[in-house]
Amino acid sequence: MARTKIQFICQNCGTAHSRWAGKCDGCGEWNTLIEENPTAGVGGGPGRINPVGREVALVSLDGEIEEAPRFKSGVDELDRATGGGFVRGSAILLGGDPGIGKSTLLMQASAALAKNGHVVIYISGEEAIAQVRLRAKRLGAGSAPVLLAAETNVEDILATLKANEKPSLVIVDSIQTMWTGTVESAPGTVAQVRSSSQALIRYAKQTGATVVLVGHVTKDGQIAGPRVVEHMVDAVLYFEGDGAHDFRILRTVKNRFGPTDEIGVFEMTGDGLQEVANPSELFLGERNKASPGAAVFAGIEGTRPVLVEIQALVAQSTLGTPRRAVVGWDNARLSMVLAVLEAHCGVRLGSHDVYLNVAGGYRIREPAADLAVAAALVSSLAGLALPENSVYFGEISLSGTVRPVAHGDARLKEAEKLGFGQATLAKGVRRTTRESAMTLNEVNQLRELVARLVEPNVKQ
Ligand code: TYD
Ligand code: MG
Repeated sequence: MARTKIQFICQNCGTAHSRWAGKCDGCGEWNTLIEENPTAGVGGGPGRINPVGREVALVSLDGEIEEAPRFKSGVDELDRATGGGFVRGSAILLGGDPGIGKSTLLMQASAALAKNGHVVIYISGEEAIAQVRLRAKRLGAGSAPVLLAAETNVEDILATLKANEKPSLVIVDSIQTMWTGTVESAPGTVAQVRSSSQALIRYAKQTGATVVLVGHVTKDGQIAGPRVVEHMVDAVLYFEGDGAHDFRILRTVKNRFGPTDEIGVFEMTGDGLQEVANPSELFLGERNKASPGAAVFAGIEGTRPVLVEIQALVAQSTLGTPRRAVVGWDNARLSMVLAVLEAHCGVRLGSHDVYLNVAGGYRIREPAADLAVAAALVSSLAGLALPENSVYFGEISLSGTVRPVAHGDARLKEAEKLGFGQATLAKGVRRTTRESAMTLNEVNQLRELVARLVEPNVKQ
């Protein structure tokens, strides 16, 4: 008989080690290795290899598909993030910080689907039935025919699912609380989470139901324990937001059946999540138009333009090494923009503290924000407010050249729709539609922008 192979799995990153060590080689965390038997568990493969295989039926590509491959949840922003609705037979991981609103979002989607005649089963591993009911009442969904169970054992859940009418959607809230009797480790460990996910994903593939797994996120932004689950599921969505603001962003990180850069925007209110169809209005809502150091960036999230204010504060430093603090943007990118301003534009910031903030708690990932950041920095340093009806976008290279970015047209259209009259952008932004009524200030070099900003007589 083959010797059972024991592995030591890091509970933080999932790296497998052949022997125990105090520190994980993969992520450098201490005391995270736990002994596990990789062949045990649901879907872990048979303990002993069966020498005689079982024949499986081979089918043709053009067979009958009984049902539409997708169904819409009825929550538009969620459908947008999933790429047009839930795909039947797929497994989705919804990650997010505790308390961000994952259960609320899924309860709202469940209720909307159930009211439309879909069979929806909601398995709560964290909250008791009474708590889930209380939330549903608060959301005005108390009467929706969602089938509810509070259970954490995967075998019991699968038996229940098979015994009832075939569901369209199964919610498992959360995967960290699930456990299967075939694995000895405690719930929440990598082995348990992996085995439980495998069993639930297999159920989805076999029956054509969509399974949504809820996963908690650790401090450093990873789904706790199992990065492995991210590889197993068809789509990974993250629900983000910060404590100071009520809006939440649903971001698609992985999607086997659709685009990965879409976002859904919601606002958390007293009675649930409200969809935000026009996020720019939300992010620009608290704008202070006359103050120096604020520039409006015309960004893109997936296919949707999002306008957001970038605020900079440049102040004489009292410290030997000046402070650089960034909220909502990349720190390294700020250093690069500062270096280009120093080296190519004669803007001296070496003895200044620099603070940069993206308004509304929003987070920008595009390099296209470089130009808006540079404008905000120069405006703050010079103490001159930027024209209130202007937007900025463009990538800055190390040589000080401003480069065009994708979707220039969509950005301009959104800005025009929101009443902006001019845009500062790179030369050569490709326009595919009619000329816009906006004034376009095309810049080739960053120093041209700086010159325009600081010379009051130059018309911007
Ligand atoms: P919840 O969905 O339980 O978060 P998660 O499942 O991600 O842990 O959301 C909990 C938070 O949302 C809690 O702080 C209260 C708030 N909330 C509202 O503001 N309005 C509401 O209608 C609901 C149901 C929750
Ligand atoms: Mg929850």
